[in-house]
Parts: sequence; structure tokens; C-alpha cells
Amino acid sequence: MRDERGREINYLRVSVTDRCNLRCRYCMPEQGIDIKPHEEVLRLEEFARIIAVASEVGIRKVRLTGGEPLVRRNLPELVRMVAAIDRIDDIAITTNGVLFPAMALQLKAAGLHRVNLSLDTLDPKRYRFITRFGHLEAVTRALDLALELEFHPVKVNVVIIRGFNDDEILDFCRLAAERPLHVRFIEFMPVGHLEFWQHDRIMRCEEIRQVIEEQYQLTPGKMSRGNGPAKYYALQGAPGSIGFISPMSNHFCAECNRLRLTADGKLRACLYDCREIDLRGPMREGRDDRYLGELVRQGVRMKPERHLMAENRWQHRDRKMYQIGG
Ligand code: GTP
Ligand code: 5AD
Ligand code: SF4
Ligand code: SF4
Repeated sequence: MRDERGREINYLRVSVTDRCNLRCRYCMPEQGIDIKPHEEVLRLEEFARIIAVASEVGIRKVRLTGGEPLVRRNLPELVRMVAAIDRIDDIAITTNGVLFPAMALQLKAAGLHRVNLSLDTLDPKRYRFITRFGHLEAVTRALDLALELEFHPVKVNVVIIRGFNDDEILDFCRLAAERPLHVRFIEFMPVGHLEFWQHDRIMRCEEIRQVIEEQYQLTPGKMSRGNGPAKYYALQGAPGSIGFISPMSNHFCAECNRLRLTADGKLRACLYDCREIDLRGPMREGRDDRYLGELVRQGVRMKPERHLMAENRWQHRDRKMYQIGG
């Protein structure tokens, strides 16, 4: 379905839980996280029903996120239900990778197509610092396994934070130079736990690119599968590629193709727009699929032209990034 600005909306990002097994400094505070009670969070069947309804409205791609999607019990069961929906042709997850090795085979068998792994540093001490208690080896194993089990294209999300990991840009490029990994550098956004965010910690993609071009030749490329905002480049002779996600310096809202569903069943038209449409209430009151489909259409019509991150501060009373699905 097209929105009022002519954008084709075919991608649904679903936050299956607001919980996470890490506490990245830019995302969550160490303590005092506002976690939704179980009864407020959708059951797996309820997610699957909304996704099926959304597929009738034009959704073709689904990404399961969180929080951390793999902490949600029986997630492979949801993957299986989504894979059975005729019109959905791409199911992916975005994960921190910690639980991925233990679940990878089950996810593959359930019909998962792809996985994007979040990894901001290749240094074990720094990894522990930024995630507060994560172990880098778990994610390294996740990367190996994602390649081994052919969840292609396997993408790595790296949020570049000046003063923390900007000296690792070329190390990350080496990952893509040596293996079929697609490394995406992401500009640091003022969303989530703002105590860690500072304006001067943003490194613009243009600057990241200059660092890379001192060592590598980049040529514009295409990604075989993906629905997101990254712009890709091939590295000469490399099996992998490099991508840039630039929400701050060059927002991609004109090409926006997505809706979001929160773990407690609210539809959001934009990452940065607080307005929400409640789907859980009507669903639990027994409304039929047609009614729910109309609410999804309303979500599409509600999409703003662009985000206002530069103009407005992230509203603290609003949801956090981990509650909206990154
Ligand atoms: P592909 O289908 O593999 O391209 O996935 P994706 O890039 O859509 O998903 P992923 O969850 O890996 O997101 C990558 C980064 O893009 C994350 O840092 C997100 O926060 C950011 N991102 C994703 N969607 C949006 C969006 O709608 N707006 C903004 N501003 N950032 C987004
Ligand atoms: N800025 C940029 N990216 C972020 N992510 C989480 N918070 C931020 C932020 N403030 C990324 C995670 C993950 C993806 C879903 O969103 O690192 O890769
Ligand atoms: Fe968890 Fe991802 Fe947030 Fe880190 S960025 S705390 S892995 S949800
Ligand atoms: Fe779409 Fe909003 Fe993200 Fe822009 S910020 S790409 S409009 S969801």
C-alpha cells in the first residue's frame, strides 16, 4: 500500500519483547528499566495474526527485533507461523547474537531467512564496556554460525561513536574484505538512553567513508536482500561489502517503506513519531481481521514526511528505542 506521499509501505518491524540480555550504554540504563508486564505483551499467536492482517494491506517483509528478540521464549515458533503466511517473502531478525549460537539451527528449520548482528567493537574489553556485561566470543561464534548456516546476506550493524570505536573502522572493513559479511556503519542517533549520547559523539557517514577510502576503493553496489536504509559499496575484490546508515546527516525518510509494531501491540508509523494506534485492545475485544486491517491502513496514512531528530529532542516520556524496535 502507498502512503499519502507515494511511498510503498511493505516492511513491518516487530519488536517482540522490550527485554534484553545486554545493557548497551547508549540504549538502556543499567537499572530501573521500564519493562512491560507479561499480560500487556502480545502472545506469539497475536503477533502472527497482526502480521497476517498487515500482509493483506501490503506488508511483504518482516523483521523481528526487540529489545533482544531471542530472549522471547519460543521465538522459532513465531518464525514458523510468519513463514507460513503466503504473502510474506522475507523474514529476518536483528539480534545482539548472544543467544544465536544456541538457537540458530532451530531458527533455520523454522524458516528464518536472514540475520543482522549488532556488534560495535572487535575488542573484548570494549565490548564488555559498551554492553556492560557481554562477551565478545558469543557474537564471534554467532557470526561464524550465521555464515555456516547460510543466513545470507549476513549483515553486521556497527554504531560508530566518536571516542569509543572510531579507530576500529578499518578493522571492521577487514571483516568484509575477508568474509562474506556486510558491515553497516550507523550514525549515532539521539534515541534510547540519552545520558550516553552527546552531539560530538556523532560521526557522519561522510567522515567514516573518508577514513575507509584512505585504504580501500569503494564502488556503489547493491544488496541482494534488504529493506532498510543502508547505502552499499563494494570493496575491491572482497566477498563482503560496506554499508552506511545515515539517519543524522542524510535522512532517508523520502524512501521510508516501514511500519513498526511494539511488543505491547501498538502500531507506530515512524520511529520518531510518538503517535500510536492500539491493535491489542481491539484484537482482544474480538474485532475481526477486516477491522484490524483498517487500523493498519490508518497507520500507513499517518506516516509523517520525515523524522525531526535535529529539531526536537527525543521525548523522555515516550518509549525508548528498545521498546520500538531499533
Ligand atoms: P535490512 O532489511 O537488512 O536492510 O535491515 P534494516 O537495516 O532495516 O534493519 P536493522 O534492524 O539491521 O537496522 C539497522 C539500523 O538502521 C539500526 O541502527 C536502526 O536503528 C536503523 N533504522 C532502521 N529503521 C530505521 C528507521 O526507520 N528510521 C531510522 N532513523 N533509523 C532506522
Ligand atoms: N543510534 C544508532 N543505532 C542504534 N541502535 C540502537 N540504538 C541506537 C542509536 N542510538 C542500533 C543497534 C542495533 C539496531 C537495531 O539499532 O545497535 O544494531
Ligand atoms: Fe540490547 Fe540492542 Fe539495546 Fe544493546 S542496543 S541493550 S543489544 S536492545
Ligand atoms: Fe521512516 Fe520515520 Fe525512519 Fe524516517 S525516521 S525512515 S519516516 S520511520
